[in-house]
Amino acid sequence: MSRELELEEVVLIGRTFEEYDKMFELAELNLVEERVLDVASGVSSFGAEAREYGYDVISSDRIYQFSPAEIEKKCSKDLVEVMDKLEGIKELYKWDFFNSIDHLKKHREKAYKTFVKEFSQNKGDNYKFVEYPSSSFRDKEFSISLVSHFLFMYDEHLDYDFHKRTLEELIRITRKEIRIFPLVNLKGKKSDLVERIMEDEDFKEFSFKKQGVNYEFVKGGNEILKINLLEKE
Ligand SMILES: C[S@@+](CC[C@H](N)C(=O)[O-])C[C@H]1O[C@@H](n2cnc3c(N)ncnc32)[C@H](O)[C@@H]1O
Repeated sequence: MSRELELEEVVLIGRTFEEYDKMFELAELNLVEERVLDVASGVSSFGAEAREYGYDVISSDRIYQFSPAEIEKKCSKDLVEVMDKLEGIKELYKWDFFNSIDHLKKHREKAYKTFVKEFSQNKGDNYKFVEYPSSSFRDKEFSISLVSHFLFMYDEHLDYDFHKRTLEELIRITRKEIRIFPLVNLKGKKSDLVERIMEDEDFKEFSFKKQGVNYEFVKGGNEILKINLLEKE
């Protein structure tokens, strides 16, 4: 990746613990017992908040090679651009969790500021520079991996081979379960890659399950894909 923090194709927008909690049905898990990997965690505050609550979470993203100031500059710019664009496509979203664009913007600002604060103080330990599809994590280092707004969402920019290789890597480094949200792409359509992954012969030993969740911001984006690595259901 170039040193320029110009990620034209994937924006630097981050979500909060509250959103991860709903998106991934975290209440189903006993988080205190898990070692969690946040995959392509970016400027999300999930990791910082989770660690504050005492959970064992590692954040991983290719942006962590940059300084907090460089990242903050880029994500504050992305936030303004994304919010401006949203005005014209408001009807593609459900406005209940967030009641207005302004409310959404404040929530996203809080997320990235919480992230930047922890990232500035504690760079090496909790934030790992990873450029998927490969990583230097050990085999089965994590019990749960969470993938939010990365795979499937960017299916126009990240092809099937990228999805498959990233999933293979997550299977290598995760022991129990991988959860991916959402299953819709940037156009708000179900990504074709979901079925392709589920039907791929190379993954036939694993159990895939789509499950509805109690969070829907992009209309139709209210399902996770769970990949159970312990047993076929
Ligand atoms: C839309 S953000 C999602 C951030 C976070 N997961 C959330 O939901 O709030 C997408 C993230 O994917 C990261 N990303 C894109 N390609 C990547 C790659 N090949 N390896 C690691 N991270 C990548 C970007 O840097 C960005 O932080």
